[in-house]
Amino acid sequence: MNKVEQNKKAWNLLAEGHFNHYKTQFVEDRYQFNPIVLRELGDISGKTLLHLQCNTGADSIVLARMGATVTGVDFAPDNIHYARKLAEDLGVENVRFLTGDVMELMEIHAGKYDIVFTSDGAIGWLPDLNRWAKTIRHFLKDDGFFYAHDAHPFFLAFDEEKLNQGITEIKYPYFSKEPDEDEQIGGYASEAKEAKCYFWMYTMGGLVNALSRAGLFIEFLNEHDRCAPGMGGSATDESGLSYYPSLEGALPLTFSLKARPVRRTTGR
Ligand SMILES: C[S@@+](CC[C@H](N)C(=O)[O-])C[C@H]1O[C@@H](n2cnc3c(N)ncnc32)[C@H](O)[C@@H]1O
Repeated sequence: MNKVEQNKKAWNLLAEGHFNHYKTQFVEDRYQFNPIVLRELGDISGKTLLHLQCNTGADSIVLARMGATVTGVDFAPDNIHYARKLAEDLGVENVRFLTGDVMELMEIHAGKYDIVFTSDGAIGWLPDLNRWAKTIRHFLKDDGFFYAHDAHPFFLAFDEEKLNQGITEIKYPYFSKEPDEDEQIGGYASEAKEAKCYFWMYTMGGLVNALSRAGLFIEFLNEHDRCAPGMGGSATDESGLSYYPSLEGALPLTFSLKARPVRRTTGR
C-alpha cells in the first residue's frame, strides 16, 4: 500500500470518534471557530468556497453558517459519510461533501470557486506541494482568493512533549524531504488509534514558492504564537486559543496566508 493509501486508511479509523466529538460540541453550542481565521477571512456570505481536507465537516459547517456555499473535500470515505451526517443532523443545507484525494482533485472534480480554504493540520499530509498549489489555482476564479491557517513548520520541527516542559529540542528536521512515519494517528478530537501514517515536513519557503509558481501572489503571511486547542500549547488564552506561556512571543505556532491569482495583463 502506498503512503497516501495508508494515510487514508488511518484517517478512516478516526471518523466516527471525530463525528461524535464535533456533534456534541455543536449541540452544546461549544464549537469554537478559530478567532484568527474568523477575523482574517472576513465576510464570506454569498461566496462559493472549496474546503480542502474537511475531515468530518465541522469547519465546513461553520463556513456554511457564515453564509458561504461550501464544498468540503476529504479522501477518507468515512470522514465524508460522517460529514454528511453532521450537516444533516444540524440542518445545514448550503454544504456538500465529496470524497477525493487533493492530489487528484483536478481530475475528478470540475468547478470554480470564490474561495479555496484549508486549515489546521492539513498541509503536512500532502506529498507534493507544487501539485497542491496548482490545484488551488485551478479551482479559483480569477478574482477569488486562497486562505490557509495551519501549523507553522518551525513549530513542527520541535519535540512537542518537551515543549510542554518548556524545553526546545529539534526532533523533526525542518528541511527533511522524507515523510515522518508514525504508528499512531489522532488524539486531538478523539482517542488516538494505532495505524501507520506519514506526515511530510513543509517549509515556509516551500509553501510560498509553490503558490507563487502556481500563479498566486501572497496578499499577507502572518505568524502567530497561538494555535487551535489540540494542535499544541499548554495553556489557553481568553479567546480559546492555545499557547506555551514560557514561549509566548518567542515561537510561532501557526501561520495564516491569503493569496490571489496573479492578474495577467496583455501589455497593451
Ligand atoms: C487534521 S485534519 C484537518 C482538519 C481541519 N482542521 C478541518 O478543516 O476540518 C486532516 C484531514 O486531511 C485529510 N487528508 C489527508 N490527506 C489527504 C489527501 N491527500 N486528500 C484529501 N484529504 C486528505 C484527512 O482525511 C483529514 O481529515
